[in-house]
Amino acid sequence: MPKKDFYKFISQLDLPFLETKQIHLQNIFESLKNQFGLKEDSNQVFIDLGAGNGQVIIYSAINYRIRSIGIEIDPVLIEEAKNSIKSLKKHKKSEKNWFKKIKIIHGDFYQQNLETFDYIYIYSLPTMQKYLKHVLLTAKCGAIIISHIYPIQKLNQFLELRYKVEHEIEDQKICTFIYRRV
Ligand SMILES: C[S@@+](CC[C@H](N)C(=O)[O-])C[C@H]1O[C@@H](n2cnc3c(N)ncnc32)[C@H](O)[C@@H]1O
Repeated sequence: MPKKDFYKFISQLDLPFLETKQIHLQNIFESLKNQFGLKEDSNQVFIDLGAGNGQVIIYSAINYRIRSIGIEIDPVLIEEAKNSIKSLKKHKKSEKNWFKKIKIIHGDFYQQNLETFDYIYIYSLPTMQKYLKHVLLTAKCGAIIISHIYPIQKLNQFLELRYKVEHEIEDQKICTFIYRRV
């Protein structure tokens, strides 16, 4: 197997594609707006580390019209994201040029520098997070880091837990953890 395919294969084992539910996205973005200074139509920049089918960045571009960047390792998911954007573009023609705010990068988030981002979203697994430290540390002071379902371990010195968004699923509770880079 070529090296790049092997790497992709290992990444998928580490962190498979799972979608953040739309209702959870709504709760998360409302908290960002009400408590963490997210402003519609602003110059703020959002990134999703492991963007999957692009639905998180599509949500932020349509609803908040801020620059929304996604980095994803799987080309099949990138294609899916691009197709969703194309078809949504047709149905949401009247809305301001939201799709121009989106950029999808085919790449590896372990190599991503985060210093230009205001909001950093990640839906990963605890097994992966231990390797993400060098990436998260590149975030600028004051950047907001949003970790869906799993808290970020062992970075207390650099990331201050500011809020937990609580979501109800049937009789189960899950959380999204919001941190500020200090
Ligand atoms: C749990 S999914 C989250 C998808 C999306 N962020 C959401 O919340 O709906 C994690 C994504 O990370 C991608 N991924 C795994 N390893 C990666 C890496 N090293 N670089 C970029 N993306 C990666 C997977 O392909 C998968 O699509």
